[in-house]
Amino acid sequence: MTDDLDRRAAELDDAHAATDLRTRFLLPAGVIYLDGNSLGALPRAVPDAIERVVREQWGSDLIASWNRHGWWDAPGRVGDAIGRLVGAAPGQVVVGDSTSVRLFQSLHAVAALRPGASVVVTEPDGFPTDRYVVDGVAAQVGWRVVHARPDEIPGLLDEDVAAVVLSHVDYRTGELLDLPRLTAATRAAGALAVWDLCHSAGAVPVDLDRHGVDLAVGCGYKYLNGGPGAPAFGYVASRHQDRFVNVVPGWHGHAQPFEMADDYQGAPGIARARIGTPPLLSLLALEAALDAFAGVTVEAVRERSLSLTRFLRNCIDRLVPGTDFASPLDDAARGSQVAVRHEAAYGIVQALAARGVVGDFRTPDIVRLGVAAPYLTHADLVTAARALREVLTTGEHLDPAWAARNAVT
Ligand SMILES: Cc1ncc(COP(=O)(O)O)c(C=O)c1O
Repeated sequence: MTDDLDRRAAELDDAHAATDLRTRFLLPAGVIYLDGNSLGALPRAVPDAIERVVREQWGSDLIASWNRHGWWDAPGRVGDAIGRLVGAAPGQVVVGDSTSVRLFQSLHAVAALRPGASVVVTEPDGFPTDRYVVDGVAAQVGWRVVHARPDEIPGLLDEDVAAVVLSHVDYRTGELLDLPRLTAATRAAGALAVWDLCHSAGAVPVDLDRHGVDLAVGCGYKYLNGGPGAPAFGYVASRHQDRFVNVVPGWHGHAQPFEMADDYQGAPGIARARIGTPPLLSLLALEAALDAFAGVTVEAVRERSLSLTRFLRNCIDRLVPGTDFASPLDDAARGSQVAVRHEAAYGIVQALAARGVVGDFRTPDIVRLGVAAPYLTHADLVTAARALREVLTTGEHLDPAWAARNAVT
């Protein structure tokens, strides 16, 4: 039975050889990394790029680097590079700050774009930062928060709704929402569609422009592989940019920042969404990391990812019969992860890691196996599924060592 899986993995790896980008990454030997949906792996180009930025730019050219090495323009330039991966034409994506800050900024911009509307609609199980920021902004601008399951949302929309705020892919289950349909329903009601792309940017085609999304945010450190603490991105559709009010009107978003004017006047275009000095080292690491996608479309990455997640699920089904999957079976409804429910999920994640298979735990009972397609193979996934079977048959997941949880799970 297991030989079958090895044979099938080899066939699938051959069939998908064109999108095997492992040589573009530096991964430790003996590790199967299924946590690229939390912290992407290190792209091979990044250490040298950062070395150059630190030694040649910062070290030698010092302050001149802002002009000479394009530091000033980096938020928009890297934004355009991300735009290519999320279907945004140039001039609509800016990079800097965290997803939380970008979401806060986007929702305050909604309040200015939809004066008079008094409701914000979101999902009850969204990522905590999204729920906290929605609640926080709602309290500040006087909105009522309505929680609803995504499939119920179209039925709830009317002219009183300012925005619908959703995650494209659920961080726990990996459920992929129907962004085109939900965006269309939102806009038909006159509301703005605000999407969190943390778990889809770089993994799933998003096509922001094509589907008429209004505002979007996402992080740089998951499937975009920008590194720990990489800055986030914000998308503002060009049709909204003239009326985009920046809740944090910092000097980098000023029309003439070096005039040092007394009053704030927002820059034209996406630069208006800039705030203050960006974390240049992280921003330029992210820029170098994006080169790992050179010559490959997100559609091709998605095709590989679907094959990998389908195969991982099949392997687990075969080797660990009765597994309770939290992630959808249907390709069209699944992002780039396979999530398994188990009452001892935390111990399973720790025991797998001890065997070199790195995933993560999400409370209360989810083993999250992220599948970053560019650097994983079908053969890796057979090994991961076998490790899961071994852990469960030997009872390694019940080791008392796992009773106390780490700060980061
Ligand atoms: C859906 C989603 N939104 C936001 C965040 C994080 O936001 P921040 O970059 O502000 O930490 C995460 C992090 O895992 C996430 O999964």
